[in-house]
Amino acid sequence: MPPRLRPLCLVAFASLTALGAAEAATDPVRFNRDIRPIMSDTCFHCHGFDAKARKGDLRLDLREFALKAGKSGAVAIVPGKPDESEVIKRLYSKDEDDVMPAKESHKTLTDAQKQLFRRWIQEGAAYEAHWAYTPLSPVTVPAMPAGGRNAIDAFIGEKLAAKKIAPSPEAPKEKLLRRLSLDLTGLPPTPEELAAFLADASPNAYEKQVDRLLASPHYGERMAVWWLDIARFADTVGFHGDQNQRIFPYRDYVINAFNANKPFDAFTREQLAGDLLPNATEEQKVASGYNRLNMMTREGGAQPKEYLAKYGAERVRSVSAAWLGSTFGCAECHDHKFDPIKSADFYSLQAFFADVKQWGVYADYSYTPEPDLKGVNNDSPFPP
Ligand code: HEC
Ligand code: HEC
Repeated sequence: MPPRLRPLCLVAFASLTALGAAEAATDPVRFNRDIRPIMSDTCFHCHGFDAKARKGDLRLDLREFALKAGKSGAVAIVPGKPDESEVIKRLYSKDEDDVMPAKESHKTLTDAQKQLFRRWIQEGAAYEAHWAYTPLSPVTVPAMPAGGRNAIDAFIGEKLAAKKIAPSPEAPKEKLLRRLSLDLTGLPPTPEELAAFLADASPNAYEKQVDRLLASPHYGERMAVWWLDIARFADTVGFHGDQNQRIFPYRDYVINAFNANKPFDAFTREQLAGDLLPNATEEQKVASGYNRLNMMTREGGAQPKEYLAKYGAERVRSVSAAWLGSTFGCAECHDHKFDPIKSADFYSLQAFFADVKQWGVYADYSYTPEPDLKGVNNDSPFPP
């Protein structure tokens, strides 16, 4: 993996290790880890997102509502003051008409869960946005275990030590090189490469193999596989006749970008709008072919405006999946109460690409005269 990708793995790994609930009383209660799952299971049905199902005029999913006095004058959550918080009174109430969760929900909280609520309010009742919408923050790397080499070993070592499990012995060199080669190039090592590695007794023998494989032209091919999938790369147009489109230079651009270790910001700009850069190079224009990887049609009878709408919507789905790591597709037709992405966001993102010049139907039909497509028929290439 190129060095700039490593911190991401660490963060993902760190959040995995934090999945257990606040164990020691010294570990601050965290909304997303400790409180949200309980509220989601036992409160949100009546005090959450769905306005139609909401009871007692109380929302607990948003802090600004939970801290306001309700109709009764009671305040659900008073940060730092559990005894003044109506939530705590209700969780511990002995009156079956008052106790929460309301009895018709058939849900109860354990004493430990009630304690967590109390402690969370005592500590200030901080809310956290859904983890997918918060920026990554640096993590503290635990102490390195004996024999550990990098930060991932430190996280694993900490958990193994807590469970009193000894790490497995290191795999033999043959296996290490096979795994590394398949990871970085998708190809097994040749017998000569293996022999060279076995014969290399230097302390950085493994690192040398990493460097050799990162320098291989097959490294870019291997990495490009995933990007080409998410960029919906194909040599054919996808609809109806599924004609060829000669867009392989874009594929080569992606392979070269990985081999040259092109920074991700440049990789992004060039694909989304390389043709708009000042004095755009041929490479940058080829990169912007990303915008033209949507399916296209030349089927007789197809309606150009309908297909332009399809192409535009597809572009939103592709860009959101590739760059935001998020599905926008559901917002094409309606809002959803649990989804922060609204239909208005879908069409604002689509509008961003509205000046990408493209035809709805790539043929010169009498029902849809298009001067730019004069004479274009089934044997014509799809234009750039
Ligand atoms: C099945 C529906 C239901 C569930 C689940 C539920 N509640 Fe309620 N809750 C109500 C109703 C109905 C009221 C209004 C009547 C009342 O005050 O008892 C209410 C009122 C409240 C109030 C008082 C609001 C005010 O302004 O007086 C609080 C606080 C409260 N609920 C907290 C919770 C908490 C915390 C949970 C989850 C642990 C929860 N509720 C789960 C139905 C529910
Ligand atoms: C192509 C348009 C379109 C897309 C895309 C779409 N929906 Fe819908 N959705 C509708 C329509 C139309 C209805 C209403 C259907 C009905 O009432 O029979 C609906 C209804 C719903 C309902 C029921 C709402 C209710 O109150 O009963 C839910 C839930 C829903 N969609 C979720 C989703 C999710 C999740 C996605 C993405 C995976 C999605 N929709 C994508 C058109 C769409």
